[in-house]
Amino acid sequence: MSPACHTREYRSEVLVLGSGAAGLSAALACAPRATTVLSVGISAEDGSSHWAQGGIAAALGEDDNPLLHATDTLQAGSYRNDQQAVQRLSEGAAEAIARLLAGGAEFDRQGNTLALGREAAHSRARIVHAHGDATGAELMRTLYRQAVAARHLQLLGSHRAFELAQDAAGRVVGAWVEGPEGVELWQAAAVILATGGYAGLYHYTTNPATSDGGGMAIARLAGAALKDLEFVQFHPTALDLHRSGASGRLPLVTEALRGAGAQLLDANGCRFMLNLHPAAELAPRDLVARAVWRAGHDTGRVFLDARTTVGRAFPQRFPTVFAACRAAGIDPRSEPIPVTPAAHYCMGGVQVDEHGASSVEGLYAVGEVAASGVHGANRLASNSLLEGLVFGYELGRYLTGIALPIPGQALPPRHRPQHLPDHIRAELGRLLWAEASLIRDGQSLERAAAGIESMLGTVEDTASGRGLLLLASAAVAAMQARRESLGAHFRTDVVAMA
Ligand code: SIN
Repeated sequence: MSPACHTREYRSEVLVLGSGAAGLSAALACAPRATTVLSVGISAEDGSSHWAQGGIAAALGEDDNPLLHATDTLQAGSYRNDQQAVQRLSEGAAEAIARLLAGGAEFDRQGNTLALGREAAHSRARIVHAHGDATGAELMRTLYRQAVAARHLQLLGSHRAFELAQDAAGRVVGAWVEGPEGVELWQAAAVILATGGYAGLYHYTTNPATSDGGGMAIARLAGAALKDLEFVQFHPTALDLHRSGASGRLPLVTEALRGAGAQLLDANGCRFMLNLHPAAELAPRDLVARAVWRAGHDTGRVFLDARTTVGRAFPQRFPTVFAACRAAGIDPRSEPIPVTPAAHYCMGGVQVDEHGASSVEGLYAVGEVAASGVHGANRLASNSLLEGLVFGYELGRYLTGIALPIPGQALPPRHRPQHLPDHIRAELGRLLWAEASLIRDGQSLERAAAGIESMLGTVEDTASGRGLLLLASAAVAAMQARRESLGAHFRTDVVAMA
């Protein structure tokens, strides 16, 4: 196939791939530049931002300040963070919340002020949330409403970029996209990737299937540097539906429940976190996730018990978790919730500088797809929506303030829009979960690398879906190369550094 012969061509000053919190924040801030947002699904409900329960961290309390928020972020990240990025994030939080309130967001209140919740590894109560545990949904409703009304923006769903368009000099000048009527070339002076991470590739994940690392894969093929791929965060408490044979996205059981006093119990009813960390259930997320994993292996099952601390108030305080539990036949008011760790978030991705620029001219990245260094080796809870809001806004403003070049002539694409076959994607998910999971070692990573290598042998070189296998292979190689345990990267065959 030579897609270039049959393509429709479109132009926009800025092209945003992805319509989550980061993509829409960037697109809104690009005004008045003509900006197009392309996404597979385009509604307030699509993508992983919608599913975020916990909230948005912001140092708004009287006993709090951005420096304390930054200190907690650095500690959670094992001090591998980029300090300037952390400062920008913590200092930009109050304004990001103010922009959302001005845009009509309805956050939970205590009297006249915003109610601030507590989550793991935060030294202060600083989590802004909406409708109890539906923060992502409220945030996306707000941004989506603003985006639909914005005159400089067009939003198009059912569009998946399968390759970045490059000119003869290697500059990114747009994207090759699979649209409803075939292949399209979208030309733009600047392309922003806001496509999320690859935690959705894992068999057990809190992410939708679209969080498959597709954006990182096409950036990699265009020559962009990726970094920190070994750091994948596993959430300690997803609803354990394994026994019913489920695969794919598991409903999140928000950390805010532990912030509200819910306790983790093993199958013998023992509160195992008490012996492991002074903060017990509110210890750093990676530590809790590993403890849940081990307790599950040792005793058979792990439960989150919110019967006493939340009890009858469950439907009002945590409506999203309550609905997921009820759908699975569990009543969290009267029985403990079965939980399991699940792949949740990628700290690594497309390496970007302080402006969100990648190593390839014309290509920018923001949100989970980007590795700005802000999260270090492990993200602090409720810093991800915040990252999308703060860095998305900054990137949009940056692009309106610089002169953008006229995009050059795009070379023909090198790939056909062909997805990874379902059975290979499922096999990859099982392999990553078994061998490159929250506890790894040299041998398991060797098995992961070999498994991906043999899958690569079954997929044509020109199929765009092959990029996901190459990305997974790069992630496993990064896990092999880091011969230490640091943050979310935990190897049992080496000495822990932090
Ligand atoms: C949660 O609600 O537990 C998740 C919040 C986050 O990942 O930041």
